[in-house]
Amino acid sequence: MDITLKGFTCQEADLVIIPLFEEKAEVHHEETNNYIQSMKSKGQFKGAKGEIFSFIRKTNSSLQDAVIVGLGKEKELNEEVVRVALASGVKKAKELKCKKIFVRLPLNEEISPYDTTRAVVEGLGLGCYSFDKYKSDSKTECLTFSIGGSLINEENSSQIKEALEEGSLLVEATIIARDLVNEPSNVIYPETLAKAAKEVGEKYGFEVEVKEEKEIKALGMEAFLQVAKASVNKPRLIVMRYFGNKEDKDNIFGLVGKGLTYDSGGYSIKPNDGMVTMKSDMGGSAAVIGALAAISKSKLKINVVGVVAACENLISGDAYKPGEIIGSMAGKKIEVLNTDAEGRLTLADAVTYIIREEKAKEVIDLATLTGAALVALGGTTTAVITNNQEFYKELEEASKYTGERVWNLPSFPEYKKLIKSDIADLKNTGGRMAGTITAGLFIGEFVEDKPWLHMDIAGTAWCDSPREYSPKGGTGEPVRTIYELIKRRSTEKK
Ligand code: BES
Ligand code: MN
Ligand code: ZN
Repeated sequence: MDITLKGFTCQEADLVIIPLFEEKAEVHHEETNNYIQSMKSKGQFKGAKGEIFSFIRKTNSSLQDAVIVGLGKEKELNEEVVRVALASGVKKAKELKCKKIFVRLPLNEEISPYDTTRAVVEGLGLGCYSFDKYKSDSKTECLTFSIGGSLINEENSSQIKEALEEGSLLVEATIIARDLVNEPSNVIYPETLAKAAKEVGEKYGFEVEVKEEKEIKALGMEAFLQVAKASVNKPRLIVMRYFGNKEDKDNIFGLVGKGLTYDSGGYSIKPNDGMVTMKSDMGGSAAVIGALAAISKSKLKINVVGVVAACENLISGDAYKPGEIIGSMAGKKIEVLNTDAEGRLTLADAVTYIIREEKAKEVIDLATLTGAALVALGGTTTAVITNNQEFYKELEEASKYTGERVWNLPSFPEYKKLIKSDIADLKNTGGRMAGTITAGLFIGEFVEDKPWLHMDIAGTAWCDSPREYSPKGGTGEPVRTIYELIKRRSTEKK
C-alpha cells in the first residue's frame, strides 16, 4: 500500500472513493452531483451508514469508476464509522480491479482532521488486506492511494500528513500480526516465529533475543517446558526489548503474548473441528510483535519489553499428561487437570520471567486463552481480567479510539477458589463455570502484585467469517489498541 497526500490528481485515478454524509450527500463535480441527486430521489442512495454505490463517470480525458459510500449523520460520526465505510469502498475498488485510487477525505465538524485521516487510512489499508500467497493463481496487487479534497488547507495539512504516516504504520503493524497468524503451523513454529520476530525487530528497530531449550531450563521455566516437550519443534523464549526512554530505564512496560504455534490439546485432545484453526493460538504473540514494530518505529518515549514463550502442544510418548503435578518458574506447584489448558501454563512462566528477569513494572498479557471467551462475548469483544481498575480504564479509552472492543469481567475472590488444588498450589482448570475468568485469574497468581491486564483474544484475534475490515482469518487485534495505550502513556505523565 502506498498512500500520499495529493500524490496524483483525481483525474489521474482509475477510481475515486467519495464518502458522503446523509444530510450533505452532494459534491462539486456537476455530473457526479446530478447522478447522486437522482439516486437520492429514487431512494437508491441517501448517504446512510452501510450504503455503497458504484458508477462510471466522465472525466476530461476518459471514463472513471466512482464509488460513493455512506457515512450516516455527521453528528453521529466516529472513527469506526469512517473505517468501516472506507473499507467497503476499497473492497469495491478491488472487485472492480482498480489500482490507482483517489480518496476524497471526509473532513467534518465532529472529529479532528487527524483522527478522520487516521481512520480513513486504517479502513483503506486493513480493508484491502488478503492472504493469498498459497493460491497459485493469485497476483498480489499493490494499490496506490492519493488523498485529496477541497477542505484540505495549509492549516490542517500537517495534521493530515502526520495521520497518513501513523495510520500507514499501524496498518503495516496489524498486517504483520495477521500474516503471522495466517501462516500455517508447518511454516510458523517456535524457531521460525523467533526468526520472524528478529526480522521485524531489525526492520522496525527493536532488539530481539532468542533463548533455546537449555537456557529455558536454566531459568527454571518448568511449566512452559512441560507443555513444549512432546514436540520435535523445540520451544523458544523470545524476548523483545525497546528502550525509548533511557533516562527512565527502570520504568519498563511488559507485554506477554501467548505463543502456541499449534494447540492440538495434547492428551486432552481437541476434536478435529477445534484443531484446524489452532495455528492461530499464537495470536497474542503476533500482536505483541506487531505492536512493538509500531511502537519502536514511532520512537515513542517509553520502555517496552515483549516476551513470548513459543511452543507447540502435541502428543507423544514424552508428553505431559492429565493428573500430573508440575512445577513453575515461580516455584508454585500446579496440578494438570487438562492438557488443553496449556496456555496459562506457558503464560505463568512468561509473566514470572518478564517481572523477575526483565524487571517489568506492569504487565499486559494477550492470549487466545479460552473458548469460553467466545461463548461469553462472541467474536467482536476481547474479555479482560485485571487487578487494577485504573489500568483497565486506560485500556478502555484506547479501545474506544481504535474500535477494538474490550469488556472487563469480574475477578471476585470466590472465583479464585475455583483454581485452588487439593494436592498442589493451583490446578490448571476451574471446571466448566466462568472459564474465562478462572483462566485469567490463574495467570494473575503469577503477577506478584504488579498492575496487570489480561486480554483473552480467543474470539477477536481470529474470525471464521469476514468482518468489516478483516477477511476471514487473523484479524491483527489488538495491535492498534496496545499501540494507542502505550502512546498515550508515553505522552501523558501519570
Ligand atoms: N487455545 C485454546 C482456546 C481457544 C479456543 C482459542 C477456541 C480460540 C478458539 C486453549 O488453549 C484451550 O484449549 N482452552 C480450553 C480450556 C479448557 C480446557 C479449560 C478451552 O477453552 O476449551
Ligand atoms: Mn488448549
Ligand atoms: Zn491454546
